Amino acid sequence: MIDQVTIDRIMDAAEITEVVSEYVTLKKRGVNLLGLCPFHNEKTPSFTVSPAKGIFKCFGCGKGGNAVNFVMEHESLSYPEALKWLAAKYHIEIQEEEESDEQKLLKDERESMMIVSAYAQKYFSGFLWNEDEGRTIGLSYLRERGIRDDIIKKFELGYCPDGKDTFTRQAQKQGYKMEFLEKTGLSIKRDDWVRDRFAGRVMFPIHSISGRVIAFGGRILKVDKNTAKYLNSPESDIYHKSRVLYGIFQAKREITLRDKCYLVEGYTDVLSMHQSGIENAVASSGTSLTPDQIRLIKRFTPNVTILYDGDAAGIKASIRGIDLVLEEGLNVKVLLLPNGEDPDSFARSMSSGELHRYIQEHETDFIRFKTQLLMKDTENDPVERARLINDIVRSIAVVPDSVTRTVYIQECSRLMNVQEDVLFSEVRKLQFRQSGDARRAAFTERPRPAPVQTPHAKPAINKCEIEEREIVRILMKYFHKEIFEVEGEQPGERENISVGQFVLQELENDGIRSDHELINRILDLFSQNLENQSFKPGQFFINHSDQQISKLAVDLLAEKYTESKRWKKGGAFVESEEDILDLLVPKIVQEYKMRKVKNMLHELEQQIKQASKTNDMEQVMEFQNQYINLKKAEKYLSEQLGNRAII
Ligand code: CTP
Ligand code: MN
Repeated sequence: MIDQVTIDRIMDAAEITEVVSEYVTLKKRGVNLLGLCPFHNEKTPSFTVSPAKGIFKCFGCGKGGNAVNFVMEHESLSYPEALKWLAAKYHIEIQEEEESDEQKLLKDERESMMIVSAYAQKYFSGFLWNEDEGRTIGLSYLRERGIRDDIIKKFELGYCPDGKDTFTRQAQKQGYKMEFLEKTGLSIKRDDWVRDRFAGRVMFPIHSISGRVIAFGGRILKVDKNTAKYLNSPESDIYHKSRVLYGIFQAKREITLRDKCYLVEGYTDVLSMHQSGIENAVASSGTSLTPDQIRLIKRFTPNVTILYDGDAAGIKASIRGIDLVLEEGLNVKVLLLPNGEDPDSFARSMSSGELHRYIQEHETDFIRFKTQLLMKDTENDPVERARLINDIVRSIAVVPDSVTRTVYIQECSRLMNVQEDVLFSEVRKLQFRQSGDARRAAFTERPRPAPVQTPHAKPAINKCEIEEREIVRILMKYFHKEIFEVEGEQPGERENISVGQFVLQELENDGIRSDHELINRILDLFSQNLENQSFKPGQFFINHSDQQISKLAVDLLAEKYTESKRWKKGGAFVESEEDILDLLVPKIVQEYKMRKVKNMLHELEQQIKQASKTNDMEQVMEFQNQYINLKKAEKYLSEQLGNRAII
């Protein structure tokens, strides 16, 4: 316990700019400082420090707080640890107080739960090493399994006595309250009885990143088909299964150092890997892998190798894990173990040197993994081969980075002997399906800014006229033409997407309307006729009673527009516009969106300037926030445009 006076002194001394500057290069930007966020990957700075308020805030990932929070986050420390870290930096002596019973009560609930968990861990470990029952049952079990004492100590393993409520009674005697014993799940309480959840089990404490005990896994020692082999702490305010990785505290240093993380399935797998000298291993134990767990790894390294059991379930979990890891933008490799082995049994069956070598020689990228796995039965079967290619393409399509995607496509092309063009086109089709949500979010997160209120507003910026005319022209010419065939809802089912469906859907998804009433009227007329197969847009618009509409239709469908100038260049694709609609139409739509985004960004820049003149910081921050979201949309779009290997 650090007393309040000391905490105050630390807080006074810890100047936010100084603390942050140790890790982040900051540039002055008005009253604030701006830099690249250390907590997520970014190329344009959205990490803001306000010296006046003593806070940092990243408008990209949302992280924010004071100097202590920064240190906690950056160094993966708990609150008291971060305070001590800062105290050392500013040469402040720390007076730690003994905790009184009263203070114990006053601690907030989460803290109380952590304290009782820490106590339980010490109790279980003490029991394992010092009590007869612990030694003869718990310790000898672990030793028989070949787990070394130093590993038992490193992971703070323990043993919970096999009684009804031995642990609970002892904890209560020490002043720990039933409320928190119950909330952490260590004790189970009904109206008239109490018992230890983990009685008679070997205990694996689960640590937070900063090394605090937040939960337990308990392994039963008897072979009993009716009782779960492992019992885990229930979800609680301090333990969210899906956000925790077993072993992350013990592994984080080595993960950073080796720039790689091994992902295994269970508690004992982590232990054995460490025992073999591979200390950058963590387990998703108790749950199947989640995106939050992957993001946890991402804080330390972008490189993950999945090392799951060599049985059918393990393979299935690996395949699922691959896509999850790829989706978070990390690099994934896989190591398939011989059938029947798990990392624990496998590591123990050989020397540490042999294990290192095996891993190095056998870890493969996910394309090879899938290929090897499925090739066996597909060698001479074209249908199966196509299915496998599809499967790989599906994984490639979730990779967010376009360069990485290209590398994977090249590899797949080589391994499967398929042309790269074909793979690119397949990936692209899938992406339209998968990315709808992401794009919608980027666009809709941002409330429309109020129009700039200045008498000298710049002359109207480009109102997307060129792009909109192009879109309308394409719709008029090819409205019903089918350009994509995509997977339907049912496996094996195919579904055709027409130019009209694609374009209108894309615009609607992103809530895009034109600034020109005429264009909106025309687009609405298209929407109304989407299902109408006898609708002939050319005739319909040319003959429309509204003179503006008919004039535009005539203009657009007149001879000189039939071929867009861009496609006149050489290159393999460019036969006629109609032959490349599947590339051309998405590109046109994306260019339109890009123009819209650029215009909005431009507008926002004006507004930010305006607001900073009036010194309205809150307004500026708000606009900056919108700006950042739009920048994301812009980046996404430019990646998409970069992917279209045409022109
Ligand atoms: N698990 C669990 N509950 C179970 C079984 C498994 O929570 N009833 C979790 C545990 O975290 C376990 C992991 O899933 O570590 C992998 O399960 P399994 O391979 O069956 O266990 P091992 O770790 O191999 O344990 P042991 O070697 O002791 O059998
Ligand atoms: Mn296992």
